[in-house]
Amino acid sequence: MNKMLNIALPKGRLGEKVYAMFEKAGFECPSIRENNRKLIFENAEKGIRYFWVKPSDVAIYVERGAADIGVAGKDILLEYEPDIYELLDLNIGKCRMAVAAKNDFYDDPQRTLRVATKFANIAAQHYRAKGRDIDIIHLNGSIELAPILDLSDVIVDIVETGTTLKENDLSVVETVVPISARLIANKASYKFKSEPIDKLVGEIAAQLEA
Ligand code: PRP
Repeated sequence: MNKMLNIALPKGRLGEKVYAMFEKAGFECPSIRENNRKLIFENAEKGIRYFWVKPSDVAIYVERGAADIGVAGKDILLEYEPDIYELLDLNIGKCRMAVAAKNDFYDDPQRTLRVATKFANIAAQHYRAKGRDIDIIHLNGSIELAPILDLSDVIVDIVETGTTLKENDLSVVETVVPISARLIANKASYKFKSEPIDKLVGEIAAQLEA
């Protein structure tokens, strides 16, 4: 059996923060700091292998066992509902999922609401809970364009600083859910590689408390 601990990191600024936390926890892999286009880095001595994954793909790698553990945004976990264990809230990558619309938006409850989003499942659950009929328009990015071009009435999207909304004359109508990065584990790995995983969780939890 492969006893190497395989860790999927979200490529980008968040992933670098995550790696710094893991390094401090004793899970270092110095070659990762060599800035090149390589995607996989190994510390054979420590039995750790890191790989850089598109942030929205981390949960798939972990669910299918290509990675034992990884770090994914709560937005992705809520949207795709992967069959994994959520071990820790890392308290970084903080933002919120929100409904937003044009500044002069008036919500007519008689009309089906047109909702543009990358997060169809989150949006559907949010409006189902309110008993509101919606028409979902699934987009892949630049969601803020939709209400401006009257493709939709509102958007359900991630708001971090609020700058994107502001610069496009949109504003938040309501917050759907707060988002942050979560440490996740493959269910079988959590059983068979519990020793290193528990050690990492303990060290990271201590960092978060300090
Ligand atoms: C996300 C999100 C918003 C923006 C919010 O987009 O979809 O557009 O960040 O950040 P702000 O509140 O700090 O302005 P991302 O950059 O991930 O690109 P996307 O257009 O592909 O969604």
